Amino acid sequence: MARVSGLVRTGIVALSLWAAGALAPSSAQMTKDGLNPTGANPTANSVNEEFLFKQEPKIGGRVSIPDQKSANLIQPQGREYRAFREDYLPWIGGIAVLGILGLLATFFLLRGRIPLDDPGPDTGKKILRFNSFERFAHWMTATCFIILSLSGLNYIFGKRLLMPLIGPEAFGALAQWAKYAHLYLAWPFMLGIAIMLVVWVRDNIPEKLDWEWIKAGGGLVGRGHPHARRFNAGQKVVFWMVVGFGAAMSVTGLVMMFPFSVTDINGMQVTQVIHSLIGVVFIAGILAHIYIGSIGMEGAYDAMGSGKVDLGWAKSHHDLWVEEQQAKTASGPQVGKRPVSPHQVPAE
Ligand code: HEM
Repeated sequence: MARVSGLVRTGIVALSLWAAGALAPSSAQMTKDGLNPTGANPTANSVNEEFLFKQEPKIGGRVSIPDQKSANLIQPQGREYRAFREDYLPWIGGIAVLGILGLLATFFLLRGRIPLDDPGPDTGKKILRFNSFERFAHWMTATCFIILSLSGLNYIFGKRLLMPLIGPEAFGALAQWAKYAHLYLAWPFMLGIAIMLVVWVRDNIPEKLDWEWIKAGGGLVGRGHPHARRFNAGQKVVFWMVVGFGAAMSVTGLVMMFPFSVTDINGMQVTQVIHSLIGVVFIAGILAHIYIGSIGMEGAYDAMGSGKVDLGWAKSHHDLWVEEQQAKTASGPQVGKRPVSPHQVPAE
């Protein structure tokens, strides 16, 4: 009985193979140009992998589960993305950060610390430059930026530079906290950028005076101080860089924070490329800002430290702003209604 059923099964298989052969086109049926009657050419470009890669940014199939991403079989752009992420980005980041540090160090050696000059060091009179709300917004943004930068650089360099030093376990724990910090501090950073935009945009509108300031080298390369209002051209550049790059980092960061909600895998990769490239240039720009706001220029830090600057410093660097403030009121500077100190402008 078993033998009979075995024979029957063999017969069925043989029959189906014959039927398949009869239905498939034989070599005699192929047309001269190598096409079979269905139009497919197994040796033509249509099945050439490289050709396919050039046609489609993604090659996928069909799935019946809700996650349509799982239908993605090959994503050729991913190779370019990986080359960027692993080979080019560390170089670009390294050159941007070390390059600006080198330039600032050279500048410091050549120019030294820009001194408080005319009308002489520390007049003893103070003028309020930034009120407490402005300083709060600045330092909140700055603190977040520094942590975002370090945790961001860790994405690029951590595995290469830090892991060999501290070992994989410590690095794993650190990288995890760095990632949390990166994701959560992005929010107060975005808020800080928005506040700075609202509070300072009025004083950062470009004007003709800025061009004069630039032509005079901003007092950085030459001696003496060109005229300036509350923010000089250099500070306006910093302001618009912070707002522009801040906005770009925010948008691309949000796209990555909610993956695949607005774009597909190709879009996610492009977003990451933009985020990382702007990120490293942003860090380089802010390093220059930190330099000039701290060791680069005598008296500058006070503006964001205590909020008050020496009147002599203010007159040297922002002469027109001091005049405006003095013209405005006899009781105080541009912000706040109460006088900042008994020595305040215009009590010269
Ligand atoms: C430790 C780091 C920092 C220091 C020491 C610092 C210092 C300063 C100082 C002294 C000023 C006032 C200059 C003036 O009198 O007008 C200032 C202004 C400003 N800072 Fe910072 N800052 C730091 C980080 C940052 C960061 C990370 C950002 C943004 C991401 C930022 C954005 C700004 C902006 C937009 C202004 C107003 C425009 C300008 O004065 O250039 N700062 N900062």
